[in-house]
Amino acid sequence: MTYSRIAGTGRYLPERIMTNADLEKMVDTSDEWIRTRTGVERRHVCAPDQTTSDMCVEAAKIAMAEAGVGPEDVDMVITGTTSPDLVFPNVSTIIQHKLGIPACTAFSLEAACTGFIYALTTADKFIKAGEAKCALVMGAECITKLVDWKDRNTCVLFGDGAGAVILKPSEEAGIISCALGADGQYKDLLYYPVGVSTNLAAAGTDDAAIMMTGNEVFKVAVKTLGAIAKEALDKAGVSKEELDWLVPHQANIRIIQAMAKRLNMPMEKVIVTVQDHGNTSAASVPMALDVGIRDGRVKKGELILMEAFGGGFTWGSVLMRL
Ligand code: UT7
Repeated sequence: MTYSRIAGTGRYLPERIMTNADLEKMVDTSDEWIRTRTGVERRHVCAPDQTTSDMCVEAAKIAMAEAGVGPEDVDMVITGTTSPDLVFPNVSTIIQHKLGIPACTAFSLEAACTGFIYALTTADKFIKAGEAKCALVMGAECITKLVDWKDRNTCVLFGDGAGAVILKPSEEAGIISCALGADGQYKDLLYYPVGVSTNLAAAGTDDAAIMMTGNEVFKVAVKTLGAIAKEALDKAGVSKEELDWLVPHQANIRIIQAMAKRLNMPMEKVIVTVQDHGNTSAASVPMALDVGIRDGRVKKGELILMEAFGGGFTWGSVLMRL
């Protein structure tokens, strides 16, 4: 059986760091509230002229070097993002061109914070079907450009960044199972009220800002993430005791702790970046994976469960060996 397997990872975080102390000067909040309710201590914020593709290019270069592949080797580019450079062309074509990758299949996926899990699952199917030999898969966001910096309910939560992986066919176990889901009935709990065919005139005004009923999202997230983790494990016939690492979406330390508890995993086996990155939406899982690999904790051959939950709602998990 041919698996798809991660051959290299990379991440990019914008230079500018915004701390909780900086936010205390902007809205009625406190470092103590942000840290205890969310786990966030600082987040990176992209420059006004910096785009999602700019960040992806930097993350991709590192992942490609790590995997030992050049632009000519890549035959598929997929990016999960809700903050692409433009409405069209899709951001993957911009990244493909900037990296000098020859013409290939290139598209982006919009699944909010679950974007990378959706993108990785899609690339896995292409590779297993023999339709791709070297996929560049990314999750990236300039999500702070959608934030209302006067709204303390949301502005303290988010950050920017990009994570990239190179996925290749392998006879050794790589991605073992994937599980995806979505349910649009929850749209009003977490959404951005401006799009090309909705309310476009409000773009750039105070009416254009992320809308979230945080505590309701929290409850559904914990319940759904528990179910989606179980689905990926059950599909593979793997028990939670066999897991070496949990690499979760980094929305809130309390959600991450609840997931670790459900999986009977001590927090030492969970990669946590929410304190440094904030919620980077689709970028959070690939960046956390890269952090765990680069600091030497996550090793080749280990069994990893990645999971995410976001607006839509969308959700998903990937079980794999590194
Ligand atoms: O990534 C996609 C999925 N997203 C998530 O999973 C996010 C899930 N939700 C959460 O992480 C949490 O619900 C939040 C961190 C967003 C909020 O935490 P919470 O414990 O659910 O707080 P809350 O919304 O119930 O608000 C509690 C209080 C409110 O005051 P009152 O009404 O009790 O007087 C808020 O006004 O905290 C207040 N509050 C703040 N206080 C200081 C809300 N934001 C702030 C703030 N600083 N930044």
